[in-house]
Amino acid sequence: METVLSGIRSTGNLHLGNYLGAVQNFVKMQYDYNCYFFIADYHSLTTHPKPEDLHNSVRQVLVEYLAAGIDPEKSTLYIQSDVPEITELYLLLNMNAYLGELERTTSFKDKARQQPENVNAGLLTYPVLMAADIIIHKADKVPVGKDQEQNLEMARKFARRFNNMYSVEYFKEPQAFNFGKELIKIPGLDGSGKMGKSEGNGIYLADDEAVIRKKIMRALTDSGPIKPNSEMPEYIKNLFTIMEIVSTPDTVQFFKDKYASCEIRYGDLKKQLAEDVIKMLAPINKKIKEIDSDSQYLSKVAKMGAEKARESASKTLQEVREIIGFRKFW
Ligand code: TRP
Repeated sequence: METVLSGIRSTGNLHLGNYLGAVQNFVKMQYDYNCYFFIADYHSLTTHPKPEDLHNSVRQVLVEYLAAGIDPEKSTLYIQSDVPEITELYLLLNMNAYLGELERTTSFKDKARQQPENVNAGLLTYPVLMAADIIIHKADKVPVGKDQEQNLEMARKFARRFNNMYSVEYFKEPQAFNFGKELIKIPGLDGSGKMGKSEGNGIYLADDEAVIRKKIMRALTDSGPIKPNSEMPEYIKNLFTIMEIVSTPDTVQFFKDKYASCEIRYGDLKKQLAEDVIKMLAPINKKIKEIDSDSQYLSKVAKMGAEKARESASKTLQEVREIIGFRKFW
């Protein structure tokens, strides 16, 4: 069975776009692949989170992934900082990662531009840590978005370089996992192209019903079409895009017909949309609350994940140390 690995940013709550675009696929993948899912808390340190926020954001992500359906018995679900072998491999890989190539990475250049007051070495070697995350479990496939393709390419490069340097065929080169051609892009509620955390236009899995209703009722609309069969403006199309995912085909058709005949009432459409989003998220929302209040369960899950991940990671690390030439004197 092939191994799939995915790193999850430990910043922010999951929104509907994350869920439909990625998490739902992870949940399905668990049954066809040997899956490793981990929360990349070391990576989050590049932006210097407050100590009290660090733990809470990791906890929140853990709760939400479990609530969304990641099964900790089937998959290996763990927290990066619980697996010290990753940092050791990171150190070793750093010896073969060159300043020039790291400086040329797009994500580094972007970050350096965004936070010129904090261009730290962790930011520079971010792709090395990511490579360590991936190759420590000899992952075959990594589901990545466009923004992470270059980092994955670098992971392949570091794996290949290690093999060449020591004349071994040890590490595999991880490939991008393709979810299929129809990658769902969930638009925001403000008429913008994409639901995102920084855009503040999202519906969160942890939002309760009243909040979801309020957010959807506030979504950008206008006074409606004047001419029959007219082209929809982007922000109306976006509402239909969400509706096509959460509502029944009949419902979508009903409102499309109303639009075409200029009889649409956006208040009704939004009410319907809100109810259908609520219906879809209700079981997850309920689970979030249950899991969130069960610290004992969370601690059990994290411990089990750490143990499973370390079993695989320590085996790799031992072999890597052997290849590099470390020998014990004692
Ligand atoms: N860099 C990834 C992101 O920002 C998170 C990540 C860290 C990751 N390590 C990884 C993703 C390893 C895949 C594999 O989304």
